[in-house]
Amino acid sequence: MDEAALAAYFEKTRRMLEESYLAHSEPWRQSGMSGPYQRWVSLRKPVADAVQRSGTFLDTGCANGYLLECLLLWTAERGLHIEAHGLDLSERQVELARRRLPHCSANLHVGNAWDWTPPQRYDFVRTELCYVPAALERAYLERLAQDFLAPDGRLLVANYAESHSEPEKTVFPENTPITDLLARLEQLGMRPEAHFDGYDPIKGRRTRVASLTRAGVLGG
Ligand SMILES: C[S@@+](CC[C@H](N)C(=O)[O-])C[C@H]1O[C@@H](n2cnc3c(N)ncnc32)[C@H](O)[C@@H]1O
Repeated sequence: MDEAALAAYFEKTRRMLEESYLAHSEPWRQSGMSGPYQRWVSLRKPVADAVQRSGTFLDTGCANGYLLECLLLWTAERGLHIEAHGLDLSERQVELARRRLPHCSANLHVGNAWDWTPPQRYDFVRTELCYVPAALERAYLERLAQDFLAPDGRLLVANYAESHSEPEKTVFPENTPITDLLARLEQLGMRPEAHFDGYDPIKGRRTRVASLTRAGVLGG
């Protein structure tokens, strides 16, 4: 994919997700999850489960900041203190996130995780492989591990379509439809340290969040 096609891909992502997410008023729908609140909890709490100590957390693709808001509550229940940071392609979404989380509005940035330069390192960085075209997945995770993660940080790679019967319907044609996150990471040469699962009985959907050290991504 040449530079112009890549720019068009990111602009399509921004425009289409912004339009579809912001057509709704429920905060989890503005973050791309349909259905009732309980479904959101089942399928997003694994992200919080992967956070096993206090520290800084960057949600790349933070949308309206609702995952960050929930993550602060879910980790506080376990006595952890998390400093929330977020990044999203959509200026409108980041504006909503700043209103939702006014105490950390200075940590919420508009930018593209593929080429954004972080102002600091983070103890936890959450992302999904579908934020870049399939051919860039490895370079994307390597960049996050190299430039975003603190030395002892954890890269949390989420797949919200684990075991999905029609995964191609959940991503753009340029992305890899992933139903087995661990197998895809193995193909990319990456070794997760642990993984955390969620199950939604309403539609039988599964979430998997893989946790990787820098070495698990970069080798060595
Ligand atoms: C499914 S929502 C994720 C919301 C929340 N973080 C969660 O996990 O539930 C995906 C968000 O990622 C953003 N996004 C997609 N590709 C991105 C990229 N390359 N850089 C930054 N944000 C991106 C979209 O604009 C969208 O708001």
